Amino acid sequence: METVVSGIRPTGLLHLGNYFGALRNFIKMQEEANCFFFIADYHSLTTHPKGSELNTNIKNVLIDYLAAGLDPDKATLYVQSDVPETTELYLLLNMIAYLGELERCVSFKDKARKQPDNVNAGLLTYPVLQAADVLLHHADKVPVGKDQQQHLEMARDFAQRFNHIYETEYFKLPVAYNFGNELVKIPGLDGSLKMSKSDNESSCVYLSDPPETIRKKVMKAVSDSGPTEPNQEKPQAIENLFQLMKAVSAPETLNFFDEQYNTCQIRYGDMKKQLAADIIAFTEPIYARILELRSNPDYLSRVAQRGAEKARESASKTVREVREIIGVRSL
Ligand code: TRP
Repeated sequence: METVVSGIRPTGLLHLGNYFGALRNFIKMQEEANCFFFIADYHSLTTHPKGSELNTNIKNVLIDYLAAGLDPDKATLYVQSDVPETTELYLLLNMIAYLGELERCVSFKDKARKQPDNVNAGLLTYPVLQAADVLLHHADKVPVGKDQQQHLEMARDFAQRFNHIYETEYFKLPVAYNFGNELVKIPGLDGSLKMSKSDNESSCVYLSDPPETIRKKVMKAVSDSGPTEPNQEKPQAIENLFQLMKAVSAPETLNFFDEQYNTCQIRYGDMKKQLAADIIAFTEPIYARILELRSNPDYLSRVAQRGAEKARESASKTVREVREIIGVRSL
């Protein structure tokens, strides 16, 4: 069976973009592969050095994951900092990571530009920590977005270099796995191409939004005064409404409003009402489970604990073997 590893930085609540992006595919993958899905809280410290919101964010991601359908009986769900073997492998990999390649990494340069007063070593070695996450479980596949491809290439480089230096075939070379056609890009309600909380909070529909909030957000979505000619090309904000509808509504519903648009009879108020209802129908069962999970902290800690135990089994074996290969031994 193939091993799949993927991590998410705990930055807050998950929205429809996260769901139709990766999460939905994770839920499928847990049926077919040996999956490790973890919350990369140490990675968050490279940009947000204070742990104050971290705990809430970790809990929220775990809740959203479980509510959406990730199953702790099928996949290993864990928090990175609960698996200290991660940091040991990170340290050992740091010895074979070169300053030059780390400095050339696009995400490092971006973040160094964004936080000039805090260009810390953790930021520089972020890709090494990520490589440790992946190599710890001998991942075959790592489902990530385009922005993470370079990190994955670096993980492969470190694995290959380790094998070369220590004359071994120990590490498999993990492959970045792009969901390609299975990825549904969810646009923002504000006319932006991508639903993203860093751009605009109100452009996001969270899995944990109550129905009334969803209705309000959708009704406020950006639109315009309507088409003036038949079969006119749709401006971005309007295209977005159709994209969202395509993700959550029945094909007939989509066709109906498309037809209305093409014949200049569309009423965006009606379309938004329908869209809100269909989003709510989609998120409602998830929302109900979120409320249930929120009131059950004991269950959450049991899930995290079990996940950590399972992850540590595979991780401690790797670290033991890596020490052995390098020649790190106790007297
Ligand atoms: N860097 C990833 C991101 O920001 C998160 C991450 C950390 C990750 N470790 C990982 C993803 C290992 C895949 C595999 O999205």
